[in-house]
Amino acid sequence: MMPVVTPARLQEFSLELATAVVQEFRDQPGALINALHKLQETIGYVDEAAMPVLAKLFNLSRAEVHGVASFYHDFRRSKPGRYTIRVCQAEACQAMGSEALSADIKKHLGCGFHETTADGNFTLEKVYCLGNCACSPNIMVDKQTYGRVSMESFKNLTAKLAGKALTSREGSK
Ligand code: FES
Repeated sequence: MMPVVTPARLQEFSLELATAVVQEFRDQPGALINALHKLQETIGYVDEAAMPVLAKLFNLSRAEVHGVASFYHDFRRSKPGRYTIRVCQAEACQAMGSEALSADIKKHLGCGFHETTADGNFTLEKVYCLGNCACSPNIMVDKQTYGRVSMESFKNLTAKLAGKALTSREGSK
């Protein structure tokens, strides 16, 4: 296992922020997808409240923007946990037990794929090959890959991350 990663620095959603973020795509026909990606990169998801801003910018109806955002599974529609954990489900990781590992991880976190833990710390997602097959099974936490993951190392890692999240929440009070 590698060192604990620093959490991605996402910004809190506000209409002002969403409006500022998507401005660079003004006058770029067909750039709605890029604007949605930029929004997700900045705040971690595509907030429903940003739909009118995007509709106005691209001269579309809200329903059209909503349709595009819903069609692509890449776009999260709700606020993610502080950390996003992706568990590899592809062949090499499967051969090294990722299915059983996934089941144990879900049990340990108390949430399924595409869900967030009750404390808001972790969102669990699937991923298909992280390019680290020689060290299967692999997971990715935010942008950091961890190889040869066991349930014990997973529990240690998530305990450290939860501790960091708590410290950071207390520090911001
Ligand atoms: S199959 Fe999991 S990293 Fe390649």
